[in-house]
Amino acid sequence: MDAVTGAAKALAESSFAVALTGAGVSAESGVPTFRGPGGLWERYRPEDLATPEAFAKDPVLVWRWYRWRQEVIRAASPNPAHIALARLEELGVLKAVITQNVDGLHQRAGSRRVVELHGNIWRVRCVSCGLVEALDGPVSEIPPRCKRCGGLMRPDVVWFGEPLPQKAWEEALAYAGSADVMLVVGTSALVHPAALLPRVAKSRGAVLININPAETPLDEMADFNIRGRAGEVLPKLAQAVEAWLRT
Ligand code: OAD
Repeated sequence: MDAVTGAAKALAESSFAVALTGAGVSAESGVPTFRGPGGLWERYRPEDLATPEAFAKDPVLVWRWYRWRQEVIRAASPNPAHIALARLEELGVLKAVITQNVDGLHQRAGSRRVVELHGNIWRVRCVSCGLVEALDGPVSEIPPRCKRCGGLMRPDVVWFGEPLPQKAWEEALAYAGSADVMLVVGTSALVHPAALLPRVAKSRGAVLININPAETPLDEMADFNIRGRAGEVLPKLAQAVEAWLRT
């Protein structure tokens, strides 16, 4: 049995499968990843753009970068990987998608239970009064100001050195701890604490499926390593799961 077939069988037989996704799941939508060839951290330094210190020092620079990312994401559409994950949820197989992505593409593809560990680029938060606002497109004014108190608004995303939103982290831990299958897609598994989730699942006996064209630190722990692009592998996997469910 090849890895796709084995993984499909594990998913079809699971009672509580959960996915963990990273930037690789959106790569084929044209949203750049952070690490690896062409990754954002090859061209930019995270400490200049994605830390609270960088924002305090130069909010305009940070916002220019986020507005550019908002424009890239606005122009992007969900790809077959996002759609296959939504289909697996619709089939009742996948109970939730835990994502490190801030692009909202899972929701746009139809996924309903999405836990966003690193926030969402389509929200802003006031650094002075905490007001959170949803955006319907890239920010027009840089830096945006709070309509309630006039304070600086920041992207409502998690930066290096910041804790994850507590509720999202607790939900993610609960999902990982209850999972009998964890489907990991397109993450380098280098950023903590998100990278702990597959370990949590595995330590509770879950079957780990890892989809990535490159090697990751999860490879040695995974039960199935499927080397390939998410947009190519996941539709095949979802189809194979449907076939198993019919047998
Ligand atoms: P990374 O950029 O670290 O890793 C992307 C992964 O996707 C790599 O392992 C690639 O091999 C893989 N990949 C590339 N193309 C793919 C494709 N078509 N299909 C499947 N996989 C593919 O992204 P994350 O692991 O998500 O955090 O990074 C985690 C966090 O680090 C991000 O959320 C961000 C970043 O700094 C914050 O900004 C807080």
